[in-house]
Amino acid sequence: MSETRRMAPADLRSRAWFDNPHNPGMTALYLERYLNFGLTPEELRSGRPLIGIAQTGSDLSPCNRHHLELAKRVRDGIHAAGGVAFEFPCHPIQETGKRPTASLDRNLAYLSLVEVLYGYPLDGVVLLTGCDKTMPACLMAAATVNIPAISLNVGPMLNGYFRKDLTGSGTVVWKARERHAAGDIDFQQFMDIVGSSAPSTGHCNTMGTASTMNALAEALGLALPGTAAIPAPYRERGQAAYATGLRIVDMVWDDLKPSDILTREAFENAIVANAAIGGSTNAPIHINAIARHIGVPLTNDDWEQVGFDIPLLVDMQPAGRWLGEEYFRAGGLPAVFAELIEAGKVHADALACNGRTIGENYRGKHSWDRTVIRAYDAPLMPRAGFLNLKGTLFDSAIMKTCVISEEFAARYLRNPADPMAFEGRVVVFEGPEDYHRRIDDPDLDIDAHTILVMRGAGPIGYPGAAEVVNMQPPGALIRRGVTALPCIGDGRQSGTSGTPAILNASPEAAAGGGLALLQTGDRIRIDLNRRSADILLPPDEIARRRADLAARGGHPYPATQTPWQEIYRAAVSQLDQGMVLEGAAKFQRVAQISGVPRDNH
Ligand code: FES
Ligand code: MG
Repeated sequence: MSETRRMAPADLRSRAWFDNPHNPGMTALYLERYLNFGLTPEELRSGRPLIGIAQTGSDLSPCNRHHLELAKRVRDGIHAAGGVAFEFPCHPIQETGKRPTASLDRNLAYLSLVEVLYGYPLDGVVLLTGCDKTMPACLMAAATVNIPAISLNVGPMLNGYFRKDLTGSGTVVWKARERHAAGDIDFQQFMDIVGSSAPSTGHCNTMGTASTMNALAEALGLALPGTAAIPAPYRERGQAAYATGLRIVDMVWDDLKPSDILTREAFENAIVANAAIGGSTNAPIHINAIARHIGVPLTNDDWEQVGFDIPLLVDMQPAGRWLGEEYFRAGGLPAVFAELIEAGKVHADALACNGRTIGENYRGKHSWDRTVIRAYDAPLMPRAGFLNLKGTLFDSAIMKTCVISEEFAARYLRNPADPMAFEGRVVVFEGPEDYHRRIDDPDLDIDAHTILVMRGAGPIGYPGAAEVVNMQPPGALIRRGVTALPCIGDGRQSGTSGTPAILNASPEAAAGGGLALLQTGDRIRIDLNRRSADILLPPDEIARRRADLAARGGHPYPATQTPWQEIYRAAVSQLDQGMVLEGAAKFQRVAQISGVPRDNH
């Protein structure tokens, strides 16, 4: 245990349950049921930190299922450090299993975890993260309650191979889908290729949203240094679980809370790290949400200002070539931070959960494999951050420029008279079903210069904001070699997708955003230099359409199907605001401000 202990055993919040001299009857009631599975009064009453293990793994959550094993090593660490472990289940959030979208459940898991962390006798918590939305749900809840918290990633799957080629999670699906649409492969071959990308336990092995969010948990300082990228089956993963269990007990004694770690500087470090790793376009949504729950102002303008000029250092799919095993062996996030620290691009004095600074943790830990993690001055791409576009189409939308292919850039962005800008006729789809039904319809006249628009895919419209904006061109165009058209939408895109889409448009059509005004055949103009995205219509026509939209009662969206969808639709903010429950964002540092809850009997 720490020599510089700031917290006395009598100050542990769990004492309010198990050692309350003012209400011995309730102390007895709390004790008797927690003793019934074999815990002893000594463990609960002698001033040991009681540590929650927020278990996000289950049979319904295969990405995180390995946490059922890792939690045993977390427990070992907690016990070895003098704490007592309480493992409890979290609401499952499986990206590939939950319909209509796992992101609908992020805020539900968040809400329930807030109640657990606040309402039970826990002095600290280990957050078991992995699949895309599990890290944000857990960190958002830890931010709101603000008890000592540390996160542990489940780790990526081993590399996938089909024959001798690497097959990366998600990325291979999008590629194989093109070949299937073009008639190159049949469904069985499609399935064989896709299946090969998931060879072991763990989360997506590409730099999709899971690898991104867990890298950012470490970049924020909430995961032990060097732990984010360890593949799930590796021995180092179990060792990291043990070290995480050891560390959380000391964090309780040190009273090291999320609010001590999640500072403005930490969030800026995360934005910089996200660019350098080629991270997911889902990151701004989730990181902005965590920032809102800890009370740090953060906007998509910050993402562009802090992150856009940061070079791409990690050669990993979808922006690059390799997968999780090469990235880990090349040094993982510590090697990325070593470059960023040396280049003066991160706040080296930001505090991490191990009690040291980012500089102390990572300085000098350069990669020994420059084919996977590049030096800062020899990057894969000079600017890898996001652009934040604005205009009559929306107030904010994100574009990940590091996945723009040469072919795409040559087709759209190399007009010498107007570089980095393009205009085009739009074809508008009302959600993914409409897209799949009509994309190959020759009457739509989709050619190599059409812009595809997807609306009805935002937080309210879908609900939950689905990953459906990365639309592929019609099969006839793909067969002619046009593999990507510009896509714009008020939904999201998979972090494993390499499509240069304009995403997360806020406000969405269902909330009265400009996309609701578009009609197939309209022309729009995107200017990446000016960060603008506009409808090419006279102002009086835009005003007429807006009045017409209001008269129709807004843009329609499908009926609500479940009670949670109803509650969610009424309370959710837009993607640029983190898609948080507005009423929840005003509750901050709950454990400090609200004390402990009242007795239950
Ligand atoms: Fe769970 Fe990608 S689907 S991590
Ligand atoms: Mg996804």
